[in-house]
Amino acid sequence: MSFPKGFLWGGDISANQCEGGWDEGGKSPNMTDYHTGGNVNEPRMATYIMPDGTYGKTPAMIENCNLPEGAKLAINPDEFYPNHKATDFYHHYKEDIAMFAELGFKAFNMTLSWARIFPKGIKAGINPEGVEFYHNVFKECLKYGIEPLVHLYKYDMPAFYIEELGGWKNRVLIDEFVEFGKASIDEFQEVTYWSTFNEINAAQFSILDSSNQEEVQRQYQVLHNQLVASAKVVKYLHDNYPNKKIGCMQAGIFTHALTCDPEDELANQKEMQTNFWYAGDVFVRGYYPSYAKHLWKELNITLDITEEDTKALKEGTVDFFEFSYYFSNCVTTHLDGEEATGNLNFMSKKNPYLKESDWGWAIDPKGLKFFMHEIYDRYQIPLMNCENGLGAFDILEEDGRVHDQYRIDYMREHVKAMSEGIDEGVDLMGYTWWGCIDLVSASTGEIRKRYGFIYVDVDDFGNGTYKRYKKDSFEYCKKVYTSNGEDLD
Ligand code: BG6
Repeated sequence: MSFPKGFLWGGDISANQCEGGWDEGGKSPNMTDYHTGGNVNEPRMATYIMPDGTYGKTPAMIENCNLPEGAKLAINPDEFYPNHKATDFYHHYKEDIAMFAELGFKAFNMTLSWARIFPKGIKAGINPEGVEFYHNVFKECLKYGIEPLVHLYKYDMPAFYIEELGGWKNRVLIDEFVEFGKASIDEFQEVTYWSTFNEINAAQFSILDSSNQEEVQRQYQVLHNQLVASAKVVKYLHDNYPNKKIGCMQAGIFTHALTCDPEDELANQKEMQTNFWYAGDVFVRGYYPSYAKHLWKELNITLDITEEDTKALKEGTVDFFEFSYYFSNCVTTHLDGEEATGNLNFMSKKNPYLKESDWGWAIDPKGLKFFMHEIYDRYQIPLMNCENGLGAFDILEEDGRVHDQYRIDYMREHVKAMSEGIDEGVDLMGYTWWGCIDLVSASTGEIRKRYGFIYVDVDDFGNGTYKRYKKDSFEYCKKVYTSNGEDLD
């Protein structure tokens, strides 16, 4: 049997994409609360107001915002903000968790909304209503034997940290985050599995093809500050709760070399070092990789790394390695070849051997097995595939069914790939399907880019009943999970 006893089968959501209740229960706004919807061709925008009362927009960013002089982030009554209500987990969590239990979940991967727990920073104090909401969610999970796996941070930046402190480039954020982490770990004693950052390397997304020197410098410092904050929280948990486990997570920016030209191999190695291994090496090994100094020199950046940071990184290495995996990209030095069109296919060519999702992401289950080996060989600590899934257009039929065979096929092939990887020696501790219930797409802000086994009746503009329906993949997932990955037919 490939999947070990106790394998953590489950699903994954994030607070800002699923919860809604953006201004309820004492929560302050996140950056995403100022983001409009977009689509694969039109980016999401952050809205602001000028001193003369006129509204404007600028491309949306999670950790930053480039506002014109004098502007303030603002909600424009003429715009629609998909994260405000999202798919309303805030009011439906009991019903949703009952459906997760029916699916056979052993784990529920979720995030805390920082702005719900500390709406105005650490000094202003913890928000009892926010704390109560999460206690209720955990209670509901544990009632069904579902282990909550809790991420402290996922694209969920309290907006006032950006407006008042300039965001993660300010080292004050390290202390704020560490206090948030400690307080959450102390408060939520019922949680055994913790994680610091979701997709910590995603700070790199915005600079993958950037020639803006200042921005590159900023993002590398942001990543460093986050790595230090993560390590300090990891150490706190290890020192105080030796029976609990904590990880950190990487976005699966996985690339193949497009051809066997050694130049392509080298280009791909560099891509993987820069965008994937760089952060993972730090949070698993406790120090920057050998190629880091060369990379900084090449990028012409200088990082503020103190002695205390170096010590913290060394002392705060994780217990398990989490990653997301949706698709792969191809790297080449050759100019010919068809361009990849998906919204996260930065500088990539189409892989002629793979089919693509409705959003242009190359579906590559064999790549999952390949990269599981690569990661495990390098780090030799348990892996957690905590995000994998297919965003697709779904149709709700009149009889209330959704026939999503494409999602079933995607799941089958990826579970097979994991099972082969385990048979070949990889220590994989769990698998949580991304967007187990429909939610707001992070990159495009659409809801019609659906991932769930559970359909939520709401469109991109918040129209609908928010009623939940089981898709065909619901029954399939249930079969896979309850047979511990044995029954994939
Ligand atoms: C992951 C993110 O990388 O990709 C999720 O952690 C996101 O937040 C998921 O939703 C899928 O991307 P998208 O853009 O389709 O939502």
